[in-house]
Amino acid sequence: MPMLEIRLWPDAGDPAEIDYVLAWNHPDGFLMRFSNLRAIYSMGAGVDRLLKDPGLPEGVPIVRMVDPSLVAGMNEFVLMRVLHYHRRMPEYEVQQRAGLWGPLRPPLAEDRKVGIMGLGQLGRTCAASLAGLGFAVRGWSRTPKSLSGVQCFAGIAQLPAFLGETEILICLLPLTPETEGILNATHFAQLPQGAFLVNVARGAHLVEEDLIFALETGRIAHATLDVFRAEPLAADHPFWTHPRVAIIPHAAALTQPRTAARTVAANIARDRAGEPLQDVVDRQTGY
Ligand code: NAP
Ligand code: GLV
Repeated sequence: MPMLEIRLWPDAGDPAEIDYVLAWNHPDGFLMRFSNLRAIYSMGAGVDRLLKDPGLPEGVPIVRMVDPSLVAGMNEFVLMRVLHYHRRMPEYEVQQRAGLWGPLRPPLAEDRKVGIMGLGQLGRTCAASLAGLGFAVRGWSRTPKSLSGVQCFAGIAQLPAFLGETEILICLLPLTPETEGILNATHFAQLPQGAFLVNVARGAHLVEEDLIFALETGRIAHATLDVFRAEPLAADHPFWTHPRVAIIPHAAALTQPRTAARTVAANIARDRAGEPLQDVVDRQTGY
């Protein structure tokens, strides 16, 4: 977009001249200085951090990142971990450390129930890919959905039925007041014994001590955690050395500049042409 002047913070010049801000993890109150904003673009899909800013300008649309490479990255990551658990890799890792040779038969994919919390841009793509591999896919969302090859559940009333048969649980929810702490002891107790957890949403979805207890009792056999309440994870956090926790440094799906720049440019072009912006966040629901 050669017609646009791009300014890189901190060399933003007069803040009143700025039409659009593209931001990620900015300091609270930072956006207040831009008095003529037409839109705020989040460099990530999740806008929980942005919405918590007490100095967030009122009435300015917030556009979240809905980008093909982010969707593809998450799809790859979720498939990798589901296959890892489905093909019993944690057990082979234990066997290898003990020098044991022991083939383990996995269940048929059609008998393996994979549950995805959140059927939005990311969750529904992962659900379709897993269904394409033959898994018994179940999904949970706030409002009812109908997705080919996916058994759909909606609302808090259907959460126990969704969890009750979910052997591999993937969290792809946005962080909102309704979903904070949703990965907790009450909900873990509704999973089958020996379930697997993959949290690729936000650290605050998880009650950390409840996971440690669920791992101790075997309710959860192994967890993949990409996101944490405090990032980077503190050096002395018990997750680092837990034998049944895999830690990834918030990298399941990283925004890719090449495609994300095109996505943002297309949305700015829409605004300049007087067309409605896409992927605008609903400040009421928080996503
Ligand atoms: P999205 O398109 O907004 O989809 C959100 C989904 O969650 C929707 O299906 C929504 O239900 C459901 N949901 C929201 N509140 C709910 C509730 N209270 N109960 C049940 N379901 C609820 O979001 P997305 O683009 O898929 O991204 C999801 C999240 O992934 C982001 O918010 C971000 O935190 C996380 N993320 C993580 C990474 C990473 O690298 N780890 C990368 C990108 C994104 P409805 O369909 O009924 O509205
Ligand atoms: C990353 O966590 C994102 O929300 O895009």
